[in-house]
Amino acid sequence: MTESTTIRWEQDDTGVVTLVLDDPGQSANTMNQAFRDSFAAVVDRLEAEKDGIRGVILTSAKKTFFAGGDLRDLIRVTPDTAQDLFDGSLALKRNMRRLETLGKPVVAAINGAALGGGYELALACHHRIALDTPGTRIGCPEVTLGLLPGGGGIVRTVRLLGIADALLKVLLQGQQYTARRAQEHGLVHEVATSRDELMAKARAFIDAHPEAQQPWDRPGHRIPGGTPADPKFAANLPAFPANLRKQTNGAPYPAPRNILAAAVEGAQVDFETAQVIETRYFVELATGQTAKNMIQAFFFDLQTVNSGAGRPQGVEPRQVRKVAVLGAGMMGAGIAYACARAGLEVVLKDVSLENAVKGKGYSEKLCAQAVAKGRTSQEKADALLARITPTAEVADLAGCDAVIEAVFEDLALKHKVFQEIEQVVAPDALLCSNTSTLPITTLAEGVERQADFLGLHFFSPVDKMPLVEIIKGRRTGDEALARAFDLVRQIDKTPIVVNDSRGFFTSRVIGHFLNEGVAMVGEGIEPASVEQAAAQAGYPAKVLSLMDELTLTLPRRIRDEAKRAVEEAGGTWSPHPAEAVIDRMVDEFGRTGRSGGAGFYEYDEEGRRTRLWPGLREHFTRPGHRIPFRDMQERMLFSEALDAVRLLEEGVLTSVADANVGSLLGIGFPGWTGGVLQYINGYDGGLPGFVARARELAERYGERFTPPALLLEKAEKGETFTDAR
Ligand code: NAI
Repeated sequence: MTESTTIRWEQDDTGVVTLVLDDPGQSANTMNQAFRDSFAAVVDRLEAEKDGIRGVILTSAKKTFFAGGDLRDLIRVTPDTAQDLFDGSLALKRNMRRLETLGKPVVAAINGAALGGGYELALACHHRIALDTPGTRIGCPEVTLGLLPGGGGIVRTVRLLGIADALLKVLLQGQQYTARRAQEHGLVHEVATSRDELMAKARAFIDAHPEAQQPWDRPGHRIPGGTPADPKFAANLPAFPANLRKQTNGAPYPAPRNILAAAVEGAQVDFETAQVIETRYFVELATGQTAKNMIQAFFFDLQTVNSGAGRPQGVEPRQVRKVAVLGAGMMGAGIAYACARAGLEVVLKDVSLENAVKGKGYSEKLCAQAVAKGRTSQEKADALLARITPTAEVADLAGCDAVIEAVFEDLALKHKVFQEIEQVVAPDALLCSNTSTLPITTLAEGVERQADFLGLHFFSPVDKMPLVEIIKGRRTGDEALARAFDLVRQIDKTPIVVNDSRGFFTSRVIGHFLNEGVAMVGEGIEPASVEQAAAQAGYPAKVLSLMDELTLTLPRRIRDEAKRAVEEAGGTWSPHPAEAVIDRMVDEFGRTGRSGGAGFYEYDEEGRRTRLWPGLREHFTRPGHRIPFRDMQERMLFSEALDAVRLLEEGVLTSVADANVGSLLGIGFPGWTGGVLQYINGYDGGLPGFVARARELAERYGERFTPPALLLEKAEKGETFTDAR
């Protein structure tokens, strides 16, 4: 044994050393300081005792193999500590290099997930064998956190797979592969089905390859597919930045650019220099704002949200066994599939058996696709489908312990539907509505057990969208809230919790994005520029095309209801400039969006978007009228961020993490920002910088950009938006 407890040294009498990664007190192994120190010590010892060693196996005592860099450390790096990060990263890489050039065979026995730093560690071994378990995931997802694999991952994947394959299969999209897929793509050499087999194969490799060497250390090694030094390869080089632009849409994501540069530059120099180049690009990303935003949101906030920070304490966790889904339309069919996939019994009810069967047909389609793509087995697909019972009979809902209603968006109908079923389902069944616009408190008035009633807002398409917005009505009890939270986790979705309000959080905030885009068309700005501005700001859907998808009559209805409510309360409605544009589009031109066959875009007979409607230029555009492109982008981003602050002020939102995660996973707020509130934290100049810019926008484009009191207060106190948990 060495003095290190993070890496256990186990040597058998045949001279095979097994290094067991087992960070004490941690659920996963990470590249923290303790690991770095242990790793250095272990490599020292391997070199010193080399003569008595036949080979080395790296494996882990945790469920996962190795989790990668310690993000808690990384998010704190500043330009002042950048040099330390550079030195530390390079030192670790040099130790990994010492391991692979030890002169003894080194095998990675990957017993679970090996992502990021975990896979990089495995790459520094001569042979990689992955255990085929459902939890095994292999790849370099750093790019999804605004980073790059800084543990030699770029240097080695380029030398292993070639520049193009390394970029496309591993580095630029951060794919996570199962053990089998990783083998197909050449990321691991072998797959094992049991832990014993894994270790036996590792030993067999050591026995058979006493002189193992990395491919790149063998004489005459050439990078597969060539390097920019080869004229044939060089001819393709200009396509790289163009493809990159296609991936990011021109949005400000520095990671793909740095990854590309590190790969191409590193391919033209020796291994050592390539490691230095990779480190330099890594440190640049780690000290930048985008990586901090993305780490905060996609790692820390997501963890906070999923771990149940928003779940009422003290309520025993409960699992749903049998769920009633009311309405087998687009949403109901998707919800039924998500529930059945997670192992729940589903009774899918519609007005006719025919409708219900059709709704189940959606699951049949998804299952067939999954089987065809090898993502599931026929047996599992059959079992999933057997869990869904289509029906038109209320009596079939007996014994359901949760209800999710997704019938037409009509208050009276929803009341009626709940009345029909309330006495049939289990006496304490959780009652949920998937309404997208109706107030939960009003809906709850239609049921007897109002404390058990809440909103469970799914997003379309349900099988792909990871978010569910839980809406707490005025009378919703803690027990129901906790059970809804557990249900969402049970079906493997991410739950955010908000209080009831018109449009809740997600619909209200995305409404501002849409309105801002439409308002710009009304001001006479070229519609194509508006679309371009949204795309380059990083929105996954362009603003006018999204408006068309959602239909133009929907915001009108919501606005009319909101206006009535304001006026009934004695207030005056202040119209958004988008409203007049929508009214003209619908009333004057009869263009209601894609479902109506015409909207801001034109559509062909199959409903495919063809081009922006030329009439927009004729009726709205003021030729030559321009505003700065940055203003166009920031009007959209600010309108959403400012409303999120107002929602915090109003108590609709109660958590910063919920706001960030909800905006990213639910409504397409650009990922590089880290979410609606993190965008404000990370804005140039921090909160004061954001306030100054909001005032500028308010002066130019309208009072709606005036910073709310909560923002001013936080800016003055030097605070940021964080959860004090
Ligand atoms: P849809 O029109 O596709 O489906 C509604 C279904 O409800 C139809 O199959 C209809 O036959 C059925 N239905 C009507 N009366 C019924 C009754 N008495 N009992 C059982 N079933 C009945 O509508 P969609 O798009 O699925 O929306 C459903 C709900 O989900 C609405 O409240 C909507 O606001 C909400 N929602 C919709 C989203 C979307 O993107 N479409 C997103 C989030 C929520």
